[in-house]
Amino acid sequence: MEKYRIQGGNRLHGEVEISGAKNAAVAIIPAALMVDGICRIENLPQISDTVTLLHILESLGARVRMLNLSTVEVDCRRATWENADYDRMRKIRASYYFVGSMLGRFGVARTTMPGGCNFGVRPIDQHVKGMNALGADVEVTDFIDARVRGGGRLKGAYVYLDKVSVGATMNIMIAAALAEGRTVIENAAREPHIVDLANFLNSMGADIRGAGTDSIKVNGVEKLHGGTYAIIPDQIEAGTYMAATAACGGEVLVTNVIPKHLDCISAKLREMGVTVEEYPESVLVRSTGRLRKVNVKTLPYPGFPTDMQPQIGVAMSIAQGTSVITEGVYDNRYKYLNQLSKMGVRAQVDGRVAVIEGVDHLTGATVAACDLRAGAAMVIAGLCARGVTMVEDIFYIERGYQNLVEKFQALGADIRIVDEPEEPAQRTPAAG
Ligand code: EPU
Repeated sequence: MEKYRIQGGNRLHGEVEISGAKNAAVAIIPAALMVDGICRIENLPQISDTVTLLHILESLGARVRMLNLSTVEVDCRRATWENADYDRMRKIRASYYFVGSMLGRFGVARTTMPGGCNFGVRPIDQHVKGMNALGADVEVTDFIDARVRGGGRLKGAYVYLDKVSVGATMNIMIAAALAEGRTVIENAAREPHIVDLANFLNSMGADIRGAGTDSIKVNGVEKLHGGTYAIIPDQIEAGTYMAATAACGGEVLVTNVIPKHLDCISAKLREMGVTVEEYPESVLVRSTGRLRKVNVKTLPYPGFPTDMQPQIGVAMSIAQGTSVITEGVYDNRYKYLNQLSKMGVRAQVDGRVAVIEGVDHLTGATVAACDLRAGAAMVIAGLCARGVTMVEDIFYIERGYQNLVEKFQALGADIRIVDEPEEPAQRTPAAG
């Protein structure tokens, strides 16, 4: 079983280049199913979630060709909606975007219920509400089966989201791109990857306006044509290296970023005493001395991202004073704190609030990633702890971080992958 072995204590120094945004890529790949032509996607992050989605596209009959490590060419002209690789679909959250793209292109869709990280109940009622409004009947069992009522194309409609949802906003936008007439999505999510998806679709001939605001207008078109599109840099990957530099100390230039997308993360790190300098496409993070406590409430964009909550939680755990996190998006995103308590993190959780009392230092231990960002937090904890940390279940981390080990090594961290056999359930203590 592969694990990360981290010898903590090194400051981080140097430059790290950020890859393409995972949560944009995982919507753009399913959306490519609607394109009637050859679609070239650049700055694609090389992570297991994108690999899985490309396999699913192939199972639908698409031709997929990697032109280099971060550029893929996808031809979905002969693709269909039937007989997808349902086992792969089940493993991944973003497979729900195939509901939108299959309905948009074929008027009928079949996917599995999505998988993904477990943060408590993650309903899809807003996705269903959107598809219903566009004229589809949707049946949800272990599978999601949807069909345009009376056949033909979806019809543009007014959709008010009861909850700000990234997934529902993107799914409805995808479906509406090929619907007849105009769709308006109110109370839409505003994350950078929503703008990126709209830009991707528009570059293939769609007519979407207002992405990045809470009111998105989609004028349906008959057809999307091929083209080339480059995905934006990953806000959360950048934030993860920024939080790691804050926790470990040192000076790191985080390159290939859009600094505006990092505003809320930079602001919180500055409150903790970290210097963050912005340049046109990079940020320089400098951390010297003890961090200060800070309070964070996670919210939809432009609020502090829930996907950065565990990573900043680690920085708080070694700050001077007591910090408070209020999780504003998910019911249950604190499981990682149980694991981190083995390393000396002192935290108390009450519902959506976690109170973290800063300690002088963390101590290495064996911990298991329980989801993607939890895993990233455990890596940061290991990097700033005294002694050796083993991080298990690293497949969660590889779902969303490209070359994490190599990138941290280049910054001077002592981290490597080790392949150790499973521990026997019970060890007999050595005699004597
Ligand atoms: N929600 C509903 N009904 C719905 C949809 C969502 O009640 O129909 C609720 C959710 O339960 C949650 C809140 O609304 O409490 C927000 O969920 P959202 O739909 O925005 O999240 P998502 O689309 O399931 C995406 C990312 C997550 C990220 C969230 C929030 C993907 C594949 N996943 O999930 O990414 O946390 O947006 O920004 O894009 C990650 O990258 O680590 C990750 C978990």
